[in-house]
Amino acid sequence: MKKIKSIQIKNESDLQELAEKLSKCLKGNEIFLLEGNLSAGKTTFTRYLVESLGLSPYENVTSPTFSIMNEYETKKGTVYHLDFYRVKDFDISDIVGNHIVLVEWPSEYIEEMDLPVVKIKFEILSDNERFIEIFGKNVNYLEECLK
Ligand SMILES: Nc1ncnc2c1ncn2[C@@H]1O[C@H](COP(=O)(O)OP(=O)(O)O)[C@@H](O)[C@H]1O
Ligand SMILES: [Mg+2]
Repeated sequence: MKKIKSIQIKNESDLQELAEKLSKCLKGNEIFLLEGNLSAGKTTFTRYLVESLGLSPYENVTSPTFSIMNEYETKKGTVYHLDFYRVKDFDISDIVGNHIVLVEWPSEYIEEMDLPVVKIKFEILSDNERFIEIFGKNVNYLEECLK
């Protein structure tokens, strides 16, 4: 994976801004690998990204920890949000390729897929501050777009 960017996030609005910017760069088939400790902001980031993609007003993004997978209808198609904190062997091959898929606690095999993959590492610096690193594979267009 190639390093694309690292960003110091001061608060949740900074994260929302990043998600909004990123949402405009996406083609609609990216897989997001969201890494970082509990409460680092993986689900919060997902919520902002899905909202930026134009969520149907009746839908609400929550953590899928207990449901494994949530689906959202957005203007860029169905977005899938998965959490493998408790489940590791869930097969995502049927949903990747034509949709934006976000995975918390991703299995290692996902990174090897021949698709656009964006890895985001979240590090907690303080209550509201985060250090975020973005890596990519097959997503050269993101580097220009995120400048
Ligand atoms: N800058 C920030 N970015 C993300 N979350 C933040 C930030 N500042 C405070 N928080 C809080 O940290 C928590 C992150 O939780 P969550 O997104 O569920 O983490 P994870 O999914 O990584 O376990 C939320 O309660 C959120 O309000
Ligand atoms: Mg979470």
